[in-house]
Amino acid sequence: MKPLLSLHLRFPVAVNYIGYILLCILYLGLASCEKTGQPKSLRIGFSQCVESDVWRKTMLEEMKRDLFYHPEVKFSYLQANGNSNLQIAQVHELVEKGIDLLIISPNEAQPLTPVVEETIRRGIPVIVVDRKISSPLYSAYIGGNNYQIGLMAGLYAAQVLGGKGRIMEITGLPKSSPAIDRHQGFVDALKKYPSMNLVQVVDGEWLKEKAESKLSELNLHELKPDLVFAHNDRMALGSYRIFNADPEIPMPRIIGVDGLSAKGAGLDLVANKMLSATMLYPTGGQEAIRLAMEILAGHAVEKDNLLQTTVIDSSNVEIMKRQADKLTSQQISIERQQEMLQSYQSLYTHQRTFLYILISSLAVALTLGSIVFYSLRENRKINRRLHHQNEEILNQKKELEEMSVKAGEANDAKIAFFTNISHEYRTPLTLILAPLEELLANVKLQPQQKQNLQLIQKNVYRLLRLVNQLIDFRKIEVDKMQIQASENDLILFTADILQAYRNVADSHHIDLRLMTNESTVMAWFDVNMLDKVLFNLLSNSFKFTRDGGLIHVSISKEGAEQVIIKVQDNGIGMSDEAVRNAFTVFHQGDYESQKGSGLGLALSKQLIQLHKGRISLKSEKGIGTTFEIRLPLGRSHLTQSEIAPATDKPGVTEDIRTYTMDLQPDTLVVEDHEIMDKEFSILIIEDHKDLREFIKKRLTTEYHVLEAEDGNSAIQQAFDTIPDLIIADVVVPYQSGLTLVNTFKSDIRTSHIPVILLSGQTTIEHQIEGMRNMADVYITKPFNVLFLEQTIKSLLANRSKLKSHFTSELPSNLKTQKLGKIDRKFLSDFTSIIERNLGNEELNVDFIAREMAVSRIQLYRKVKALLNININEYILNARLQKAKYLLQHEETPISEIAYSVGFSSPAYFSTVFKSRFGITPKAFKEK
Ligand code: FRU
Repeated sequence: MKPLLSLHLRFPVAVNYIGYILLCILYLGLASCEKTGQPKSLRIGFSQCVESDVWRKTMLEEMKRDLFYHPEVKFSYLQANGNSNLQIAQVHELVEKGIDLLIISPNEAQPLTPVVEETIRRGIPVIVVDRKISSPLYSAYIGGNNYQIGLMAGLYAAQVLGGKGRIMEITGLPKSSPAIDRHQGFVDALKKYPSMNLVQVVDGEWLKEKAESKLSELNLHELKPDLVFAHNDRMALGSYRIFNADPEIPMPRIIGVDGLSAKGAGLDLVANKMLSATMLYPTGGQEAIRLAMEILAGHAVEKDNLLQTTVIDSSNVEIMKRQADKLTSQQISIERQQEMLQSYQSLYTHQRTFLYILISSLAVALTLGSIVFYSLRENRKINRRLHHQNEEILNQKKELEEMSVKAGEANDAKIAFFTNISHEYRTPLTLILAPLEELLANVKLQPQQKQNLQLIQKNVYRLLRLVNQLIDFRKIEVDKMQIQASENDLILFTADILQAYRNVADSHHIDLRLMTNESTVMAWFDVNMLDKVLFNLLSNSFKFTRDGGLIHVSISKEGAEQVIIKVQDNGIGMSDEAVRNAFTVFHQGDYESQKGSGLGLALSKQLIQLHKGRISLKSEKGIGTTFEIRLPLGRSHLTQSEIAPATDKPGVTEDIRTYTMDLQPDTLVVEDHEIMDKEFSILIIEDHKDLREFIKKRLTTEYHVLEAEDGNSAIQQAFDTIPDLIIADVVVPYQSGLTLVNTFKSDIRTSHIPVILLSGQTTIEHQIEGMRNMADVYITKPFNVLFLEQTIKSLLANRSKLKSHFTSELPSNLKTQKLGKIDRKFLSDFTSIIERNLGNEELNVDFIAREMAVSRIQLYRKVKALLNININEYILNARLQKAKYLLQHEETPISEIAYSVGFSSPAYFSTVFKSRFGITPKAFKEK
């Protein structure tokens, strides 16, 4: 599941990731396309001194027209309304805003100089246009040659007046450079004509209105100028209007400057004869932008760039006008084209943006599409899988249901079978019991016979108890058990039951007591049920309480509602696990070697529950166990059908002996025969005490019998005592019988010991399993004692034969099949060490034990068990046998033979040889 899920998650992430990369590539691609077509953006600031007149407007238009070709330029424009201070502030503003170049047409030279110098110092190039500053600290100047203009005007005046006349000059702002230069040029030209008198200079401040007002203040009748030179066409027009207004004053010739082609401007005034001439003064707007782009491109430029000028009068005004009109129409067409270009550009920009969005959307749609496609496919897969799993689960559920129905049926059938069988058992058991008790009553019985009969009696009762409990349990299970309560004195009732245990208690020196503060406790209970409960609890206590212990039964009332019966012992106690499962049916508590049937306590609980009471227990290992029963008093908790009819005379009907007989001490006294008397020892491993005692009794006259009741003590006993034979039950506490056989057969100390396995399991598979674990014999229960005895005899006889086989002749023949692998190996090692070291004087028990890596004791016991000989005796025998062989078959001198078989001297060899064979080695050889 997990890898699938992670794949399912991973894919959309990957697709998203791919989509994202696609978008990035796309964006970068488009962005780079855009970048290559667009140079770095530039900022140009333009500070204009004034903008109200046509000349200045023309200048700005020219600039803008040229800027069209430089879309990268951000153009910031401010005008100062002819106010120098305002213009200074505006320059500061432009610089602060951040510009790469400043174009300035300074209102007045002096006041604007510092701010231009400061701008230069800040590293911003400055182009001065039209008007100059009074410092050379600027990047470039562009504009008409004003001195030239003044000079041309002066020369033209002299020419039209024939070198003599009265001249009036109307100047621009006296502090602005064009006014200064034009005046100087004009004056210089007049100097050449002494009859040309400059009669009046008027400051017109570049403005028509100013010129008009200044002229109206003068006495023109007196001045009577023949020619007026105004520094621009506007002031020239003002003069014209003043002179024209007074017919008494003769109209002077008027010369202007600028020569603009706009309607009503310089060219029109000349054409209309209002002005005699105008000096062309180009605005230089276009040139200023071109120069700025050169500087910004880092190219070197001329510092002072003077624009061409010319005189326009009636002789050339028409041509000039036509040229100007043509220029204007061309400009209009250029502007129109520029507008169209602009609209195309914006269309292109829109379409490009739209394209970007379209492509991006397409990429996103593709990505999302693939995610959706993949998710759908995965979903379908998962759904299919889930569907499949669901079907499997449903099938399994169905199977489980069927199985549980079958299991229930099988269980019912099993319990029914047990119950039926139990019923069947009752009659034969009772039939056994009757004659048995008759037999026991016979006073002429031998003690041994009586003991046997008592053993039979005890076990018949035990069987009866189990059978009865099984039947009761079944009744409860099928709801056929109903209580039949009658009102009885609980104290009398309990005392009666305790009385039945008195003998058992006395014989085990157990302090059995009934303790209560009440004289009577009248309670409603089913006598035949509560007695079983108390028998079970008491039997349990007796089973686990050691001789000399105590069992106290207490009865107390809790108000008028409840009575509490406690059965307390100071026995061995239970483990937590045993306490948890004490009332679980068929759970066999495993307390040391004692095992219950798993029925008694479970049945007790059911019986108490039928009384609407409760039963619990507390136990601690080594401290003891306390059972507590709580029964409700009165009869309100009982239905009418649970009350016994008044005619019934209940009494303790349960055969108490089925509980107490088991606990009677054995009167059997097995005589402890002296170990020395018996040739063989047998270890019996059996947890069932009676069976163990029974076998022991049968064997003890012939064999020395050792006992072990669980696996752990069995192993210990076997290794400590190395018995001659072991009888082991297949099921013993702590270790299974099969494991035990395996342990014995694979340990060098015990591998030779024959093992008889006793088992209640009769199937051939179990027998094979037992034999596979190297058991020598497998006997199933119930077994015939004579057969067991015979088996023991034959196993021990075989072992004896083996011993004589190994001790008969040398070299030993180890081909026997009767021995286990480990034993064969042991004997082979043992004999070969002796064989190889016969010539070695040091050959003794210590030497062999060392060689075989066992202890002296283990070596002794093992050799004794397998060969039943003394090791030193065996070595000596081997030496003599070898010597005998050499004497018979070799020509070696006797003294050498003596040394070669490990004798320290030939004389000692001879003595020993003679004592063993009754003949000297020499005589033997000769014979
Ligand atoms: C425009 C103007 C022009 C003149 C120029 C001198 O403002 O007065 O008429 O030629 O300025 O700077």
